[in-house]
Amino acid sequence: MEIGCKTGDILKARVDALMVNLFQGVKKPTGATGAVDKALNGVITQLISDGEITGSRGEFTMIHTLGKIAPARVVVLGLGRARGLSGEVVRSAMGEASRSLRKAGVRRITTVLHGAGAGGMAAHDAARAITEGVILGLYTFDKYKKSNRSQRNLAGVTIVERDRSKMLEIRQGVDVGRIVSESVCLARDMVNEPANRMNPSDIGEVAKNIVPDGALDVTVLEKEEMERLGMGALLGVARGSAQPPRFVIMNYRGDPDHPDEVVGLVGKGVTFDTGGISLKPTGGMASMKTDMAGGASVIAAMRAIAMLHPKINVTGLVPAAENMPSSTAQKPGDIVTALNGKTIEVENTDAEGRLLLADALSYGRKMGLKPMIDVATLTGAISNTLGSVCTGGFTNNQPTFNRLLKSAAVTGEKIWQLPMYPEYRTQNRSEVADVKNTGGRTAGSITAAWFLAEFSENTPWVHLDIAGTARAESSKGYLVKGASGTPVRTLVQFVLDSARR
Ligand code: BES
Ligand code: MN
Ligand code: ZN
Repeated sequence: MEIGCKTGDILKARVDALMVNLFQGVKKPTGATGAVDKALNGVITQLISDGEITGSRGEFTMIHTLGKIAPARVVVLGLGRARGLSGEVVRSAMGEASRSLRKAGVRRITTVLHGAGAGGMAAHDAARAITEGVILGLYTFDKYKKSNRSQRNLAGVTIVERDRSKMLEIRQGVDVGRIVSESVCLARDMVNEPANRMNPSDIGEVAKNIVPDGALDVTVLEKEEMERLGMGALLGVARGSAQPPRFVIMNYRGDPDHPDEVVGLVGKGVTFDTGGISLKPTGGMASMKTDMAGGASVIAAMRAIAMLHPKINVTGLVPAAENMPSSTAQKPGDIVTALNGKTIEVENTDAEGRLLLADALSYGRKMGLKPMIDVATLTGAISNTLGSVCTGGFTNNQPTFNRLLKSAAVTGEKIWQLPMYPEYRTQNRSEVADVKNTGGRTAGSITAAWFLAEFSENTPWVHLDIAGTARAESSKGYLVKGASGTPVRTLVQFVLDSARR
């Protein structure tokens, strides 16, 4: 996909389609849309007065120009009410529109800078939102389908802007949007890969090869090293599988003057979750290849960060294992010792993600990472609570959480905070160990968060439960059915927003 920008007259470019936009409530378009309308003898105004175009969010109308102007078609993209405009609206409308264009066999388009102009967005942000919408919306995962693979694709998008002085800003917005959304696609690829092609060793390999030549310092620990460090909780989960575990450490050092200030990103990397001896029911188990989505999002975010080189230090940690039942598997009732010395009663081997994270958060704390943000497909309960609309958020430090929410408002990825009242903590009490890995029938996502809190201790920490949002059930906006790649963009944005300038 080529995404570029140039100055010039939108009516003169010989392309398959020219995209302009319309706000809801506008009866007589002005600006670029007005110029197109005029050149096409008022067809857009006519469509509006006939009620066929309303300008509602994501509305897509294609008009053939029959030689009246150079572009073969004009697309009028609805952006909703001008006052409600945001990067998310542009990104979403552009994602949906890109798929419609692909379906119509359109290969090359020019587009105006949706959201700038009357929308009031900065040129950089508008260009970034357009780029992200196109790349994310056109994502496909069809590498294993030899037949029926669609040859048609949108191949070129050129943003046309009259004001030459905005070119640099637009180009930078496109670059950032490209790096970030290609990283999201990488996370989607990792999650969409089946578990036989994305095991813990594969995760380690992907992490090592994610960026060329030393932009990241990546170390992948193997089982013996984990034993030496005392990662008993992670190793307990890995015991049931013939696939050895891995522990990925990715260091980005963008602020060498402050070597002790390092942000930590931690992602659950369970490459397949059968439940272990506490075996899951058959129905839908195939979707448990998604259980490394948190880890994938951290690896992908580290790639984007390394390529954007902000002035900040970040370490990504991904504990990776496969949760299998076997004669060597851990059993309900087993007691394991985590890296920080706390003992854990494994009441249910299906609550394995928190065991991996117990060691990873302990490790991060030992390294002095601050704050730590973990991402995990941790509990089925979070989808009962929040569905697939938003990610569940938890914290022991409200200011850090608030900062993350600010970054999430930029990316449009929704996060809703759930409470961590100390009363919930008691549900994880064990008769025989320091803590138990299950908290009973009620408030399952909160007790899981409290379990993690035992290992982040007093380090400022945020936990994101993406069990409901890691997968999209259908294609909508810039989401494509399958892995969503959430919350890569928010992790990256948080790091950019936290960096020194
Ligand atoms: N990976 C699952 C959570 C999950 C469920 C993710 C559905 C995506 C969709 C996690 O390891 C798990 O099995 N959690 C258990 C915890 C329980 C045993 C305390 C759950 O949610 O049932
Ligand atoms: Mn599980
Ligand atoms: Zn799991």
